[in-house]
Amino acid sequence: EKIYLRDYKAPSFSVESINLDFNLNEDFCRVIAKSNITKKEAAELRLNGEELKLVSIKINDKVLTSQDYQITGEELIIPQVPEKFILEIETELEPQKNTSLEGLYKSNGIFCTQCEAQGFRKITYFFDRPDIMTSYSVTIEADKKKYPVLLSNGDRVRIDDLGNGRHKAFWSDPHKKPCYLFALVAGDLGVIRDNFVTKSGRKVNLEVYAAHGKQERCWHAMDSLKKSMKWDEDTFNLEYDLNDYMIVAIDDFNAGAMENKGLNVFNSRLVLADSNSATDVDFHAIESVVAHEYFHNWTGNRVTLRDWFQLSLKEGLTVFRDQEFSADMTDRGVQRIEDVDALRVGQFAEDAGPNAHPVRPESCMAVDNFFTMTIYEKGSEVIRMMQTIVGRKGFRKGMDEYFKRHDGQAVTTDDFAAAISEPNGKDFTQFKRWYHQSGTPVVNVNESYDSSKSEYTLTLEQHCPPTPNQPTKEPFHLPLMMELLSKNGQELKLECDKIETNSDGKHLIELKEAKETYVFKNLNERPVLSILRQFSAPVNLKWQASQDDLYFLMEKDTDSFNRREMAQKIGLGVLRQLIDQARNKKDLVIDQRYLAAMSAIIRDEKMDHGFKAKMLQLPSHSVLAQEEAVLDTESFHTARTTLKKAIAKENRQQLLEIYQKFHGVEPKSRDTKAFGHRSLKNSALSYLAELHDPEVLEVVNKQYWGAQNMTDRMTAMMILADSESVHRDKALHNFYEEWKNDAVVMNKWFTAQATTSRKQTLEDVKTLTKHPAFNITNPNNVYSLLRAFGANLVRFHDPKTDAYEFYADKIIEVDAKNPQVAARLCSAFNFVQKLEPAMKEKALKQIRRMVGIEALSKNSRELLQSALAES
Ligand code: ARG
Ligand code: ZN
Repeated sequence: EKIYLRDYKAPSFSVESINLDFNLNEDFCRVIAKSNITKKEAAELRLNGEELKLVSIKINDKVLTSQDYQITGEELIIPQVPEKFILEIETELEPQKNTSLEGLYKSNGIFCTQCEAQGFRKITYFFDRPDIMTSYSVTIEADKKKYPVLLSNGDRVRIDDLGNGRHKAFWSDPHKKPCYLFALVAGDLGVIRDNFVTKSGRKVNLEVYAAHGKQERCWHAMDSLKKSMKWDEDTFNLEYDLNDYMIVAIDDFNAGAMENKGLNVFNSRLVLADSNSATDVDFHAIESVVAHEYFHNWTGNRVTLRDWFQLSLKEGLTVFRDQEFSADMTDRGVQRIEDVDALRVGQFAEDAGPNAHPVRPESCMAVDNFFTMTIYEKGSEVIRMMQTIVGRKGFRKGMDEYFKRHDGQAVTTDDFAAAISEPNGKDFTQFKRWYHQSGTPVVNVNESYDSSKSEYTLTLEQHCPPTPNQPTKEPFHLPLMMELLSKNGQELKLECDKIETNSDGKHLIELKEAKETYVFKNLNERPVLSILRQFSAPVNLKWQASQDDLYFLMEKDTDSFNRREMAQKIGLGVLRQLIDQARNKKDLVIDQRYLAAMSAIIRDEKMDHGFKAKMLQLPSHSVLAQEEAVLDTESFHTARTTLKKAIAKENRQQLLEIYQKFHGVEPKSRDTKAFGHRSLKNSALSYLAELHDPEVLEVVNKQYWGAQNMTDRMTAMMILADSESVHRDKALHNFYEEWKNDAVVMNKWFTAQATTSRKQTLEDVKTLTKHPAFNITNPNNVYSLLRAFGANLVRFHDPKTDAYEFYADKIIEVDAKNPQVAARLCSAFNFVQKLEPAMKEKALKQIRRMVGIEALSKNSRELLQSALAES
């Protein structure tokens, strides 16, 4: 039941072209697939297919009888086929009953497809593997009134009116592609149009489709698309290669979006936005995901994957590209902070948990379980390290080489590493351990200064904790960006022959050994080390620096990422002390030096607003969960709120002033500056809310009712939802009445209630699962209510409730309909190793119950079984 990378075998057949003919009806859909196939070596024909009703098979127009072939649960096998032949297969589907949302399905009356990773096999029998690339021509026939819009990949050929109330569209894609990039959409949709002229003069029609009446909310996605097209030309000299680019917003969608050639299908939450309905965070996410899918046109589509174990080849690289795009569109420093926060909370936790896996995994049960933070976010860090080692110019040279070598091919992460390293004269043999070793490396820092010799000595040691199936690891190749700072914060001259300067002029230590020592000469006073600048490698730094140095760096480091990093590191230390006091039932004593430093930041008038909001953020519960040996979330909560309250109390007046200064300033503006001052203002408000005083809650309530954008309304609603304020229920009720007909916005209402720290949260969530607005077959509803609750560490791991049992019930219920969505809920049980014995037993009981269900999908089973095995 497992598949292995080492079993990869090149295909024995090639497919020159395929014609797909769809006949769409209300109760069934008929598909005729006609492929032009060549046998390259002696072999029987084996095609993938699942949940299909086979009508007929022909080879070169001759109908096969049941003696000629064999059908298993997952394959169609034809032992005897000629060297060259035309295979015609007719199948029948019931898309209206497809709740897995892979293959062809229906969402709100719209037919659409999701073929990645293995959905195409639910449409017809085919070689459902990415290394079979072929030319597609497609026809779609449907009722003209119900489905006026008929879309597929590539170029529109024509549309025929069939006279009987039906019409038929013809599409042809000039680019070869694997079947996971096939797409079809049919429905009654609204559309907005624009165009983009590429640098070589191709005029591309851009279309964004959404349910009628929603299309005016698509303009931000359209703008984002145009920016992405321009950026990819400017940055990587990559141009679009078709005359049409289409995006379609769909309400029921398992993932965020899909890069089907020329026809992206998006979760509507990542398309629809205007300032009344979307927050600043939503706008930012839309810009980045539209870019991500667009960038896949080169990194994923033109150059695709040899097999699914290579998934990070396209996902890591494309995330890296969208992060760089976002950095250029907004504020590079703040963007890096956000990306690293997401990496730590999601990926570091994954790497420390029972489902840790390498960036290039070696085995799996369910391919869809590969769409992880490790493949995406850690994959992106691996690419970023390559760029750090060879410098930006070197990286661009390597990217050019990658397309020169592999355009039109299905390749591997090794091919990519070779294309980047070889033109730059680098050896990536050791570096490639990042692809096959899982786990987050730990780097220990030791320093000493000898004033008599004017020498500073830095010793770095690395190791990587064991992960499932990988008890020991070899040392990694780590690029550590560094500087030494003088007492007044100047970067000092580095006299050490082991320090590299990359082509961007950045100073780098390339740590390759388990332990290495670096001696820096001619330093008349003890310098302060600034290391891992910009988080140049995804590692856990263990550094017992003095408090003086940490505070110094927080104030004066010339790398803004590191200033914020030091604020987090100090804050983490303070919180861990408080957690310790709380667990031992002692009085909670606030660290006065930290309090003074936070007060100074609040009072700093020169600091950039967006950056200041990041400086003021306290480490999250998920970060605490990784640092602490025991997951005692009640004491995490006590510690964190106590600290937050102390900061608010000390700075009540200043926080109110910040609030008043920025509240209502350019409420509709969406530039980076406005985004920054809103996030600062709302962070001031969230500190103040910790005081629970009626005057502050009055301000929050006023913000809710007077809000001129969703960012302000949502912030106020979340604060009220997490309070016992008299204003709470009225605001929640009002939000519901305002937005009950808007599926995308209703998700915010669910999340606001699922993420509170109130004791009755579980009961609220249970009630909400029965609410008419909640639909368990809609992935966004499941994510915004159930998954959000599973990530609510305080209430999910509350010893006084039966949260685990309720949550397991829901996983089971979802799993029967939609395995991919169920699997995404399972990660809530990843902390099982850190639970106290009684809680652990409770969690294990539920995991065992789920695994014991025979019909449980392989998706959920794979994840839950490793949670059991590792506990
Ligand atoms: N390739 C898509 C993207 O990252 C994601 C598809 C998700 N598929 C899945 N089976 N979860 O852009
Ligand atoms: Zn992607």
